[in-house]
Amino acid sequence: MSAPKREQWNSSLGFILAAAGSAIGLGNIWRFPYITGQNGGGTFVLLYVSIVLLIGLPVMYLELSMGRFSKRGPVGAVESIAPGSFWKFMGYLAVITGIGILSFYGVVAGWTVWYFFKAVFHGFPSGKTNELFGEFVASGPHQIALLYIFLALTGGIVISGIKGGIEKVSSILMPILLLLLTGLIIYSMTLKGATSGLKYYLVPKSSDFTKTTFIFALGQAFFSLSLGMGAMMTYGSYLKKKENLVKAGFLVVIFDTVIALMSGLIIFPVLGGAPQKSGAGLVFVVITDLFTKLPGGRILAALFFLLLTVAALTSTISLLEVAASYLMDEHKIPRKKAATIVTFITFIVGIPSALSLGANKSLTSMISIGGQKTGFLGIMDFLFGNVSLALGGLLLILFVVFKWGIKNTEKELFRNSEKLKYLRYILRPLIWFAAPAAIALVLGFILFTGKTLS
Ligand code: PHE
Repeated sequence: MSAPKREQWNSSLGFILAAAGSAIGLGNIWRFPYITGQNGGGTFVLLYVSIVLLIGLPVMYLELSMGRFSKRGPVGAVESIAPGSFWKFMGYLAVITGIGILSFYGVVAGWTVWYFFKAVFHGFPSGKTNELFGEFVASGPHQIALLYIFLALTGGIVISGIKGGIEKVSSILMPILLLLLTGLIIYSMTLKGATSGLKYYLVPKSSDFTKTTFIFALGQAFFSLSLGMGAMMTYGSYLKKKENLVKAGFLVVIFDTVIALMSGLIIFPVLGGAPQKSGAGLVFVVITDLFTKLPGGRILAALFFLLLTVAALTSTISLLEVAASYLMDEHKIPRKKAATIVTFITFIVGIPSALSLGANKSLTSMISIGGQKTGFLGIMDFLFGNVSLALGGLLLILFVVFKWGIKNTEKELFRNSEKLKYLRYILRPLIWFAAPAAIALVLGFILFTGKTLS
């Protein structure tokens, strides 16, 4: 029996835009600046960029190669390379991680929708955006409704199929986002505290290095690049054999990192240094306040939140796609039903996160991670968005080294780029030693010294 023909991206640009769409999202614009602010500014940024290049890029290549080779998502990919082996649990971990991330990501993505409508219909109260945010996130019914809306939107697009839905949305809107961010950077550079803000953001100081800096930098790199849970593997599985993986993967990593750095270039000049009350609200509070001071600020704010909504959407699509394609490929459940099931489960899992920003006291403040009081959403973010992704990345590397074989990986990776084959001399030591050692170190640290996290 021959396998049914798999859907494929129309063009390599289509793939790059969709993969960049998965990578670029709230991770860059919401998560990166506030995590940077909590972990020491310039030191964190330097570490982050190094990790992206030395660990993120190699892992990106592994995921894309394995996806295209097997034409499957994480569970199927492992099964087709090592049938019947215990490695399959790595695939299940990926599916669960996707749902775990989507469950809290959907909450934050819901905020972007609400802020969009707020900009269109009311505008923002100058100097009071902090209070606005606090009240809004503490409203349980709002949070749950918005989570529901966002997940339903995501599910709807996933149902509509790979080409029609994902490719079109990403290709039109990402360039506009880039333009708007550039404009905002130029404006925030003219503000009073810009120089000291930039100094904090870009100049590393060894005293800023804390116990958690490395953990968060690693987690943020995986999170931002959509690595460690099979999203890139699944996207790679729709990629034609003739495309150049080396180039495509490199471009995605660069785009993603540039957008994250740009987001910091907007926020830190405004702050003029380390954020005072940093936390999940940072970008929403700071950017909206910035808009209240700009001529035509309301229109720009509406545009900004619309684009952020779409950027979040192209990421949630990829999160949902992993679990949905698992049900489709491995359980032969039709796309529509598969996407509906995953959307529903994610919604239920997401409810405590939605209620953990003030609506429910005991969910709001649970433990302390990295010196910050953390609620349910923060815990989900830490467990799935940091630990689980790093673990997934480590398992993937071990799978490649011990099971699939580095030679087979390279064969797929360099399939249409013979000229770049020399890059394997850089890639191999990273995959054999540097990346797994660094990730294992971080995970071991968390495991054995959980206490030191707080
Ligand atoms: N990379 C996405 C972002 O930065 C989030 C994401 C993580 C998407 C993991 C898919 C997988 O917003």
